[in-house]
Amino acid sequence: MSSSTSPLLFALYEQASVGCGGAPSLWTHPLDDRLQVNSLDRWRNVAITAEEANLDALFFADVLGLYDVYGGSADAALEWAVEAPANDPFMYVPALAALTERLSFVITASTTYEHPFSMARRFGTLDHLSNGRIGWNIVTSYLSSAARNFGMDEMLKHADRYARADEFMDVFYKLLEGSWAADAVVGSKSQKVYARAGSVRPIKHDGEHFRVDGPSLTSPSPQRTPALFQAGWSPRGREFAAKHAEVILLPKKDPQEIAAGLADIKQRALAVGRPVGEVRSMALARIITAPTAIKAQQKYDELQRNYHMEAQLVSYAGDTGIDLSKYADDEPLTTLSNGLTSYVVKGGTGEKPLTAGDVRKKFADVTRGTDLLFIGTPSDVASQIQEHAAVSGLDGYMINPLVSPGSLNDFAELVVPELVDRGLYSAEPKSGTLRSRLRADGSDLLADSSCGAGFRQGAEVSSV
Ligand SMILES: Cc1cc2nc3c(=O)[nH]c(=O)nc-3n(C[C@H](O)[C@H](O)[C@H](O)COP(=O)(O)O)c2cc1C
Repeated sequence: MSSSTSPLLFALYEQASVGCGGAPSLWTHPLDDRLQVNSLDRWRNVAITAEEANLDALFFADVLGLYDVYGGSADAALEWAVEAPANDPFMYVPALAALTERLSFVITASTTYEHPFSMARRFGTLDHLSNGRIGWNIVTSYLSSAARNFGMDEMLKHADRYARADEFMDVFYKLLEGSWAADAVVGSKSQKVYARAGSVRPIKHDGEHFRVDGPSLTSPSPQRTPALFQAGWSPRGREFAAKHAEVILLPKKDPQEIAAGLADIKQRALAVGRPVGEVRSMALARIITAPTAIKAQQKYDELQRNYHMEAQLVSYAGDTGIDLSKYADDEPLTTLSNGLTSYVVKGGTGEKPLTAGDVRKKFADVTRGTDLLFIGTPSDVASQIQEHAAVSGLDGYMINPLVSPGSLNDFAELVVPELVDRGLYSAEPKSGTLRSRLRADGSDLLADSSCGAGFRQGAEVSSV
């Protein structure tokens, strides 16, 4: 359980899209500027506000296809901008890193559709250029439309996605942790030697999904491997998180349920030799706040007026494969896709099956019933965060802005001072690499007990 007086981690959850995943229709709110998704000025303002507020990171969610399940086409997703358009976060981060000095960036990238060689090269380069301010949200992706964009008829099965992800990680670690020894770069004009050739080794990976000779084309960057984030919730996803993630993202709101999930994942981490302190945790949270309770309620009402359930149903359809446009209220939901079902759809053996009406009821409200919401005066919000963290044991929260940039501004101006007063927020400007801020010992590199460390030159190669 978190000590109630140690600072928590805070990040901003964004997406290079008009209709961000957590708030699909709220770009229609008069104070939202996500229609400016293609403008670097908008993103500069977001990044600079986040940096000035001392947030730990700006997190970019991402998808690789349109939400085309609802009504049998992508029409509604395009009309409502549900996770559309989807610009490439890898293109935003170098620009934003150049406009900031301390803020870190977490990029979502898929092990199912990327190749580990080019990903290692991109992350290695970005880690250099940002002085180690980079994290990777490892996803296996859940949209069939993405599979069809990458030449596949359908998505890989859940277990196959994770098998590929595990091998992807092996290759990634071999390249970034193992192929260049610590002493490889000499960089001496007088000796006329850039790198000691004998210290840079091919990796000769020959696996089921990838064949990569190596070595990495980038020299070792400040963190080598970017800080690793992941959100596995299924048993297989938890196993993956326990093995690889330095920050696990919990898809739940109930603090007891989060505590139980965390305990399970940490137990799994221990079983693969990782001390539990090396596994940090965060959850998405929405915040509605104003100087008085009445004004906070007015903000909520304004959000509700700009919330449109159809956009949410488009989002739900893409996540789960369940097209509610085809279901009457009393019909139980049976069609499960192979996508994001491990927590979005409830019901099954021994439980009353969820009906279409249940889901519509849940989604009638902007808070969607499923989301972690802190609402009230800044002091109320700070107390709710404090209580939630104390019970859940979370190390921090990713703020999912209902209105962008309004929710970030509210957090920075109103809530941060309250959190600082309670010792829950570090007012000191953050410095150093992202990993150094996550690790208790302040190291820039993966812990020696990590899976990736097993691939370093001289280390016993882990059996994975
Ligand atoms: C906070 C959070 C952010 C996520 N961001 C993304 C994302 O940007 N792209 C994506 O494809 N999946 C995203 N996911 C989904 C996860 O990667 C994963 O598919 C999901 O948690 C289901 O876990 P499972 O694979 O164990 O079933 C996110 C999940 C959470 C909780």
